[in-house]
Amino acid sequence: APSGHGSLGQAAFTPVEPNRRDAFVTAQGFDHDVVVRWGDPVVQGAPEFDAHAQTVESARQQFGYNCDYVGLLPLDDDEALLVVNHEYTDENLMFPTGAYSADDVKRISIASHGMSVVTVRRHKPAGSWKRTGPGRSPHNRRLHDATVFELTGPVAGDTRVRTTADPAGRNVLGTLNNCAGGTTPWGTVLSGEENFNQYFDKGAGLDPRYAAQYARYGITGSGRGWGTVDPRFDLSKEPHEPHRFGWIVEVDPYDPTSTPRKHTMLGRFKHEGANIALSTDGHAVAYMGDDERGDYLYRFVSAAKYDGSGTKAARAHNLTLLTKGTLYVAKLVGDGTEDGLFDGTGTWLPLASDTQSFVDGMSVQDVLLFTRLAADKVAPTKMDRPEDVEPNPVNGKVYAALTNNSNRGNAAMPVDEANPLASSQVRASIAAPLTKASGNRNGYVLEMTPGGGDHAATTFTWDLFLVCGDPSAPETWFGGFDKSKVSPISCPDNVSFDSAGNLWISTDGNVLGSNDGVFRVPVAGPNRGQVQQFCTVPKGAEACGPLVTDDDRSLFVAVQHPGEIDGASFEQPASTWPHTDAFPRPSVVVAFKSR
Ligand code: FEO
Ligand code: CA
Ligand code: CA
Ligand code: CA
Repeated sequence: APSGHGSLGQAAFTPVEPNRRDAFVTAQGFDHDVVVRWGDPVVQGAPEFDAHAQTVESARQQFGYNCDYVGLLPLDDDEALLVVNHEYTDENLMFPTGAYSADDVKRISIASHGMSVVTVRRHKPAGSWKRTGPGRSPHNRRLHDATVFELTGPVAGDTRVRTTADPAGRNVLGTLNNCAGGTTPWGTVLSGEENFNQYFDKGAGLDPRYAAQYARYGITGSGRGWGTVDPRFDLSKEPHEPHRFGWIVEVDPYDPTSTPRKHTMLGRFKHEGANIALSTDGHAVAYMGDDERGDYLYRFVSAAKYDGSGTKAARAHNLTLLTKGTLYVAKLVGDGTEDGLFDGTGTWLPLASDTQSFVDGMSVQDVLLFTRLAADKVAPTKMDRPEDVEPNPVNGKVYAALTNNSNRGNAAMPVDEANPLASSQVRASIAAPLTKASGNRNGYVLEMTPGGGDHAATTFTWDLFLVCGDPSAPETWFGGFDKSKVSPISCPDNVSFDSAGNLWISTDGNVLGSNDGVFRVPVAGPNRGQVQQFCTVPKGAEACGPLVTDDDRSLFVAVQHPGEIDGASFEQPASTWPHTDAFPRPSVVVAFKSR
């Protein structure tokens, strides 16, 4: 079992102080290496990166922009596959001003989305990993805008996912805005297509048949002008193209020739990610968040059971688990604040199985394609931007990051016990009346306990484990821990666990005045709620990933959009991290105990 000072789960460290440095800063006694940067060659034959000579062809062979989710899947004792999402692009930071035509900027940006599979190898000191050259890495792969993804489940072939290029409605080119994700027990990676709505142009006008559906998904037609270089991004030409995004994607990194899939059974919304737990009797349960102010938490339970026998046939069976089952949405009810806690009970409300809809007036296909509209009809709880939702393998509870919500407290989104801070008010203490201006600007971490400890149960209990912010602010709550001894934390986004069950949290959009970073917090024992900042990321960056792995010796962090600050440009960057060039390069780093 992992233990001792080399273990990130056990090691004592002095928290990193909040800072505004253009650096990746770890707690003292730890070090880090940059594993792979935007532009680094991924597949065999990929050209070396040159910011002044970018092409669609090179982008499709190199590590994409804005790394997000990070998974590590073992190949053998010393090698593993790093699987990474490339969520979106920052054109102003990617391209020298005037060096490319407007259309080339669009084409290269499209190609810089997707995912990468990169072989990495152990290095000294223990816990460090470096990428192997593409020439020695037959598993390496770039999934990009020309990669075919197969639609699975009830919506595959539906008339509303058919397009000119795909009249059968079964094969989608590319994956967009891949945010967080998860690694399955059967050795694949799930990836969430999140803010896909932003990529579609109005063209000659929106198709009135889908006015309500587009509106609920934020598809307004104010895209990025991609319709001029690829007509599928023009809504007036291809009104169904956006219906082919917003899914959970499954990739089998062990088979570089496999066709990645989009599982319609898991619903369509702004998927942050999906993480799997097994129910008591072996069904695969996927937990998911829809990252929008006032949107919902979801869960999928597979119809078939996971086969852990390790045979080839078992793996083939497990690869079908996400194609049939039941999709649910969460309702949370508080038990009153007199007990001094934000807590209560919850119910998973069924929306549809692969054979039956549970929503009046909507078919199975309607529910899965327009899941937000289906969920609206069963009155689930509107949450404050549900991001990563992940089961803790040690204590069996489920943790959800709720980043923030500037709309909370509006007439359409009143406060409730699970979402207690209004946008214009804050409680002086959780039992006291609302007093002064502030709001849910710093976010929460929600803790859910499945009924009977079974992830397939239809009920659960819940509590707000963290009410984030400056610990000196009265409304904050750190799991009951002494608030004079914790790090300030703001805008939790992605979550992960070490093998001791400690929660690791990365942040996105810290509003306390310092850089984002990654924090460790025990969820049990006398130190429950002791939030400690383990690292900070460079100026303008968001911390993504985080992944504690390799017997807790390694922490992988995706440093996304370093230097993304208003007014910054390629020539006048706000960051030059990782300081290998005169401009910033989003990169994955690994942190480990210093030798
Ligand atoms: Fe891509 Fe919800 O963060
Ligand atoms: Ca309560
Ligand atoms: Ca986020
Ligand atoms: Ca994020």
